[in-house]
Amino acid sequence: MNLRVMEKEDLSLFAEWVNKPEVFGEYNPLRQMSRTETEKMLENPLELKPFIIEKKDGSKIGFIAHFYVLHISGRQPEIGYSLVPNERGKGYCTEAVNIMVDYLFLSKDTMRVQATTDTRNLASQKVLEKAGFKKEGTIRKLFFIRGELRDAYLYSILREEWKEPKILTRTT
Ligand SMILES: CC(C)(COP(=O)(O)OP(=O)(O)OC[C@H]1O[C@@H](n2cnc3c(N)ncnc32)[C@H](O)[C@@H]1OP(=O)(O)O)[C@@H](O)C(=O)NCCC(=O)NCCS
Repeated sequence: MNLRVMEKEDLSLFAEWVNKPEVFGEYNPLRQMSRTETEKMLENPLELKPFIIEKKDGSKIGFIAHFYVLHISGRQPEIGYSLVPNERGKGYCTEAVNIMVDYLFLSKDTMRVQATTDTRNLASQKVLEKAGFKKEGTIRKLFFIRGELRDAYLYSILREEWKEPKILTRTT
């Protein structure tokens, strides 16, 4: 599996994924994006940075993004991800999260990387826990999903819990 920065030529596929509820998933806010909107997203001021998740054969199976949540104490890096349905349950997302955490701790002067997930999203919680994230608590009514406000869990991994790169410096 490989992660690479999303390029303009990936945007049609990205828009297709985001626009299809079966890919973006049942626990993400429903949204429809035009190709033009996805182009703006790549240049956006919130610094959302999406990466394509590719299999070794080059097929594109999903994405993982990092972005910043503003807080008076500073900017908190947060991550989000989605995979196409027929490639789920094979460990790809956990590997992508491990790579992203390595990348963020190696490249940014941050103490923590966080993620939020609908309290019903057991697959996403499993991914985060397998990647060493800890559940910090519940953010009440954070997401408006399918017509109702939903509670989310806030997860994080601290630099001292990460300790050293799991993947990026592996040479074998
Ligand atoms: C969340 C998502 C990205 C996980 O991707 P993935 O590649 O399947 O994740 P992994 O294979 O690395 O790990 C998934 C784990 O969750 C487990 N799992 C999957 N569905 C589950 C469920 N309904 N209940 C409990 N565990 C579940 C799997 O068994 C696996 O654990 P295991 O390795 O111990 O068997 C994928 O399900 C997805 O794209 N969902 C829709 C979009 C979404 O919800 N994104 C996250 C928003 S916060």
